[in-house]
Amino acid sequence: MGKTHLDIVSPHCMLVVGKRGTGKSYTLGVIAEGFAKLKEEYSNRVSLILVDTMSVFHSLKKRNTNQREIQAMRRFGIEPKSWEDVVRILVPQVAIDEAEKDGKDIHRDEVLKLPLCKVEIHEWLDLFDLEITEPVGTLLSQVIADLKEDANFSFQDVYRKVDETDVEKDRKETLKNLFSMIEDLKLFSKDGMDVKMAEGGRITVLDISYLGRLGKYELRNLIVSIFAREQMAKRTLYTTIEMQSQADLVDSKTAKNITEEYPIIYMLIDEAHLFLPSEGETISSKALIDWIKLGRHPGLSLILATQEPSALHTSAIRQSDLIIAHNLTAKDDLDALKVAKQSYMKKGLDEMVGKMQFKRGLAMILDDKTRKLKMSRVRPRHTLHTGVDASALPDEERY
Ligand SMILES: Nc1ncnc2c1ncn2[C@@H]1O[C@H](COP(=O)(O)OP(=O)(O)OP(=O)(O)O)[C@@H](O)[C@H]1O
Ligand SMILES: [Mg+2]
Repeated sequence: MGKTHLDIVSPHCMLVVGKRGTGKSYTLGVIAEGFAKLKEEYSNRVSLILVDTMSVFHSLKKRNTNQREIQAMRRFGIEPKSWEDVVRILVPQVAIDEAEKDGKDIHRDEVLKLPLCKVEIHEWLDLFDLEITEPVGTLLSQVIADLKEDANFSFQDVYRKVDETDVEKDRKETLKNLFSMIEDLKLFSKDGMDVKMAEGGRITVLDISYLGRLGKYELRNLIVSIFAREQMAKRTLYTTIEMQSQADLVDSKTAKNITEEYPIIYMLIDEAHLFLPSEGETISSKALIDWIKLGRHPGLSLILATQEPSALHTSAIRQSDLIIAHNLTAKDDLDALKVAKQSYMKKGLDEMVGKMQFKRGLAMILDDKTRKLKMSRVRPRHTLHTGVDASALPDEERY
C-alpha cells in the first residue's frame, strides 16, 4: 500500500471524526508528530497549538513504550522517538493548586495565565450570561470599556472602577462578586503570558481539561476564543506586511523573514463540538468560524476532531477540505458529512462504510483537492499515547 501524507503547503480546514475509542486523539497525535518531524527550514515557519481537553497530548514529550505498537512500527519502518524540547505544555494554576493539595505535582512548562485586558466585553457578558441591556451587563460594559483605554489592568482596577461609578450598591456588589469568582481561578492577571506566543517549530499544548470541571462558566471556550482572536489579528497584520513587501511598498528589512517571526498556525482541537457546536453559540464559536471562513489568507488552519459530526457547526463541515473518518456508522453523522461533500463522495461514502471493518487506526480519507476517497491505516505513534481507556487492570496486565 502506498503512503499517504498530509500536505501543509496550503491552509486547511480538516475534520477527524469517528465514534468513541476509534483513534481520533491518536491521529491528532500522529499529525502533531508530523510537524515535529519537518526539516527546520520548514518547521520554523509553522506553529502548532493543540487544544487538549483530556490531557492526552502531554505524552508527545515521551517516546512510545507500548510493545504492541513498537512491533507494529517495524512494518512502517519507524522507531519510538520523542520531541521533549519542541512540545510546550501550559496548565492553569487551579489544576496545579488542586493537585498540590493532594501532595501531587503536575508537569508543565508554563502556567496558562492570560492578560485580563484580552477578554472582550461580549465575552465577559457571555461568560456571566448577562445581556448588555440589563443593569449589571450595562455596568460591566461601561467599566471594561473605560479600562480598555489603558492597555493593561488588574482585578483591583476593575473593582476600583466599579466603586467609582454612580449606580446603586447592589449592582456594584453583584458585578464585583462575579469578577471575584473569576479572580480566584487565577487564569487572568494584569500581566498574563503573551497570547500571541505562536513560535515557529513549536507545539504548544493548552491543557484545559481541569477547567471543564469548574462550574458553569465556559472558561475553556473563553480561552480558545482569546487564542483564536489574537492569532487571527496578528497573522492578518503580518500577511498585510508580507504583501506590501512583495509589492515593494515597505523596505525589505521590515518584512524580512516575517513568516519565521510570526509563523503560519495550525490549531488542533480535540472534542471540537464543545467549542463550535451545531446548535447554539458558545463564546468561541465566532472566533472559530472566522478561522474557517477567513483563515486561508492569513495562513490559519484548523484540525477539528469530534465523535459526532452532526453535533459540529455546519460551517466546519461544509468548508472542510479534508476529512479523516475513523469507524463511523450513525446515520446522523454520515448524513452530516454528506452535506459537505460533492456528489461523487456521497456514493463512495456509502460503499466504503459498508466495507469498513473496525481495525485500530483504519480511516477513510476524503480529500476535496484530489476529489478522492481513500482507505488508509494511520501509522503507530513515535511518542506515547496516553488516551488509553481508564481500566481496573494494572498496567502490566493490559497487553
Ligand atoms: N493508528 C493506531 N494504531 C494503533 N493503535 C491505535 C491507533 N489509533 C488508535 N489506537 C488505539 O485505540 C485506542 C483509542 O484511541 P483514541 O484514544 O485516539 O480514541 P478516540 O477516538 O479519541 O476516543 P474518544 O472519542 O473516546 O476520545 C487507544 O488506546 C489507542 O492506543
Ligand atoms: Mg479522544
